[in-house]
Amino acid sequence: MANVVVVGAQWGDEGKGKIVDWLSERADVIARFQGGHNAGHTLVIDGKVYKLHALPSGVVRGGKLSVIGNGVVLDPWHLLNEIATVRAQGVEITPETLIIAENTPLIMPFHGELDRAREEAASKGTKIGTTGRGIGPAYEDKVGRRAIRVADLADAATLEARVDRALQHHDPLRKGLGVEAIDRDALIALLNEVAGEILPFAAPVWKVMNEKRKAGKRILFEGAQGALLDIDFGTYPYVTSSNVIAGQAATGVGIGPNSIDYVLGIVKAYTTRVGEGPFPTELEDEDGNRLGTRGHEFGTTTGRKRRCGWFDACLVRQTCATSGINGISLTKLDVLDGFKTLKICTGYELDGERMDYLPTAADQQARCRPIYEEMEGWSESTEGARSWADLPANAIKYVRRVEELIDCPVALLSTSPEREDTILVTDPFAD
Ligand code: IMP
Repeated sequence: MANVVVVGAQWGDEGKGKIVDWLSERADVIARFQGGHNAGHTLVIDGKVYKLHALPSGVVRGGKLSVIGNGVVLDPWHLLNEIATVRAQGVEITPETLIIAENTPLIMPFHGELDRAREEAASKGTKIGTTGRGIGPAYEDKVGRRAIRVADLADAATLEARVDRALQHHDPLRKGLGVEAIDRDALIALLNEVAGEILPFAAPVWKVMNEKRKAGKRILFEGAQGALLDIDFGTYPYVTSSNVIAGQAATGVGIGPNSIDYVLGIVKAYTTRVGEGPFPTELEDEDGNRLGTRGHEFGTTTGRKRRCGWFDACLVRQTCATSGINGISLTKLDVLDGFKTLKICTGYELDGERMDYLPTAADQQARCRPIYEEMEGWSESTEGARSWADLPANAIKYVRRVEELIDCPVALLSTSPEREDTILVTDPFAD
């Protein structure tokens, strides 16, 4: 199949970096289609560690085209820093290897300030636990039709008009939060300064993507965050501000949905989440600590400790449906090594009734109690397994039960951060 979308099928941090890198080796084009530098991918290639936030993972592999689509919100200053960092590691980034959609909205310094000021002002219960990177306010400006977009950097008069329009909205908002007004001229100067460095990468991405598609190039759409953080289908309002589900891959770069051949969902063998919000299978006990410690569950972007819990098959079944996931890549199975008993959530009990999905209403979500199925664990190590024969029988049973409960097959099984420690069942790119 030519074009593959990779999405996180839980609350993010499922281990997409390794899988995306693994797939990007065989792709011609790697495109980001939503989110911003709230994402964090760590890639380990030939012993070198690359930490990427806004750049598509393909940049570290030679001979690929990396694309930042219009569905992304882009902080130009952050991007230039990230480019400088990876260049210092020996990676070549040029307008031939990286293009940015001209209609991509930019994250301004005032977006980050607003994001953080709101979070600080919020009381417990209203705080979202954002990454503080200005993602939400930047998307608000996009749909509010007052964003400053990449193409606006090319013309001084347009840029000034766009800034004025944004300030008209933001200055009163800031006043309400006790934040000083924006220095218009300083902002325009900053933007003019960055324009010369960003514009060489600007391109009509929709056109390039359609040409690549017609030329039969393999396209990998690299999702960020996870489907449970989706603005529509996630645990609203404790979500990110973009559509994270696979359908966004099409609108986030400007191709038709019929150009997507395969959707790969990345699923961790247990559950984690950072930030606030409902988490039915959360463990605040020794088992939870053990998952966090063994799984190194600290955020790549903010360093925050991730909340941990049992695998929630009910939620993953839901995200497989909303993203049309064809197959999953199950990651971090080795973190479960040594547990005597494992629990999998198969549904919820709500006011005496069994639910086979998480209801939308917040009060109902709060009253949902997970219904668990217990499985016998395994004492052997699964770390680094490269074939089914290397796995203990109970680990195979666990994987098979996950497949049954989420109603979706395992395409890849990842057993360590190393690329080679992967069991391939179905190649998403196979014709
Ligand atoms: P924002 O995207 O910074 O607005 O944050 C909104 C919610 O999404 C918060 O709960 C964040 O912790 C979460 N979030 C954003 N990006 C990621 C990610 O890459 N991994 C996991 N959680 C994320």
